[in-house]
Amino acid sequence: MTKFTVNGNPVHFKMPPETPLLWALRDASNLTGTKYGCGAGLCGACTVHVDGKAARSCQVPIGSIEGSFVVTIEGLSDDRSHPVQQAWIAEQVPQCGYCQSGMIMAVAALLKENAAPSDADIDGAITNICRCGTYPRIRKAIHRAAA
Ligand code: FES
Repeated sequence: MTKFTVNGNPVHFKMPPETPLLWALRDASNLTGTKYGCGAGLCGACTVHVDGKAARSCQVPIGSIEGSFVVTIEGLSDDRSHPVQQAWIAEQVPQCGYCQSGMIMAVAALLKENAAPSDADIDGAITNICRCGTYPRIRKAIHRAAA
């Protein structure tokens, strides 16, 4: 059994310790805002926060985060009031939307470390993939959230 905290709630997972966090969240906790894209750590659709840092949950075995604090898109705010969510709404970022919860989690983690990232900082830190190509709006929304 693996124990850690998800969105402020202590959770005991009975899954094998090698189970990727992504599937523990989606299948055991019904937190389906975290998306499966590539399953290989490449696309970022599955990004959550583990102990305050962005993590690609498809690459995190639950046995490796015993006692950690995990936050998913559902736990970022109760009412979409997080500055990144507000900026995403204002800039109408999503197209299909599939990758956007991972994007928002990655950006929220970036802004905690760098309150006013440059375009180069953004390009270096946000490597999530958006197949709709919403990158220009993502960049605008990041600058809006940082303002
Ligand atoms: Fe985890 Fe693509 S699903 S990085």
